[in-house]
Amino acid sequence: MKLLEEAIIERGSIVNDEVLKVDSIINHQIDPILMEAMANDICDHYKDKKITKVVTIEASGIAPALLCAMKLQVPMVFLKKSKPSTLQEKAYTAQVHSFTKNSDYTLSGSSSYLHEQDQVLLVDDFLANGEACFGAISILKQAKADVVGIAILIEKAFQKGHERLVQEGYEVYSLARIKKMEAGTITFCDNEM
Ligand code: G4P
Repeated sequence: MKLLEEAIIERGSIVNDEVLKVDSIINHQIDPILMEAMANDICDHYKDKKITKVVTIEASGIAPALLCAMKLQVPMVFLKKSKPSTLQEKAYTAQVHSFTKNSDYTLSGSSSYLHEQDQVLLVDDFLANGEACFGAISILKQAKADVVGIAILIEKAFQKGHERLVQEGYEVYSLARIKKMEAGTITFCDNEM
């Protein structure tokens, strides 16, 4: 998506060869116009699928997921990174290891909001090694829900997430695919997915 690639170049910064900072548009301050354009692009891609729910992971996935859910007119569920004390009903959980942050957390989602008949669009801000996506997929499998597609704002194509998800049979739609970040330069993959 040209608009996102331009925003990454103009307003993002390279932390190191593996980590991109986009706090001014996605991860801290949110650019609502860009976010809406990204959600529109995602929904356009999935318009012929009968999506019944949009699922994401707190925190940065919530903004794009909510805008997608509004456009698709379906509920949005965000999976939590710790089990809330108010959760009384059955919860599905999955252990996730973040290589970027070198930490583990337990992802959880209530059985009240994830159902067997759900056709889920999974949305997240970044795709690196895919650990967060696989955690979310594990929870959705426990709920017997179907994952129709996985929409990502920024994919770091030099890491293994995309390949691992496709190998498992999932459709991955990324708005910007970064091939490499070296010497202060961001190179995007060719547009074909
Ligand atoms: P993975 O799920 O694809 O394996 O990625 P990983 O565990 O390594 O990523 C952990 C967290 O770091 C996630 O956010 C992910 O979105 C974020 N992340 C990964 N690579 C980058 C990057 O290059 N830049 C930025 N800004 N973030 C990256 P999180 O901990 O869930 O954060 P949040 O959603 O609460 O903001």
